[in-house]
Amino acid sequence: MKRRDFMNWIGVGAIAASLPVAIAACSPDSETADETAAAPPDAPDAAGGDTAAGDFMAIGTTAELEQQGYLATPDSAENPIVVIADPANPEALIALSAKCTHAGCTVAWQEDLFACPCHGSKFGPDGSVVDGPADEPLAQYIAKVEGDSILVSTT
Ligand code: FES
Repeated sequence: MKRRDFMNWIGVGAIAASLPVAIAACSPDSETADETAAAPPDAPDAAGGDTAAGDFMAIGTTAELEQQGYLATPDSAENPIVVIADPANPEALIALSAKCTHAGCTVAWQEDLFACPCHGSKFGPDGSVVDGPADEPLAQYIAKVEGDSILVSTT
């Protein structure tokens, strides 16, 4: 075998050997694995709920919501959550991150809006910005009623 033939043979062999790796690297499965590996930055984990049920955690009871007008995880929670009854439809719930999008202080529900104690931002019941300096809405979560408990999605 001549040197040139040998080098061509080695080159074809190297390409053939690396083809499965290249195909696997470009397959949709590898993209999905990469996407699921990164947790969203505002994903509420261990936000102070008492119990977990699947992807939902208990944040309080319907009686507490009716009495207080809102339900909230402790302010010290890494990702505080607040739940209110939708003012436009009291049968529906609204669950939001209570972490102000300006600098991360915990907002408080005040009858008809969320107010931030740090720099005065205000958010509507749906989490939309009413007054700055915050310029991004509060993150929304899914809430549901199961029996007497109010559960919030933590994913
Ligand atoms: Fe809420 Fe600045 S942290 S307005």
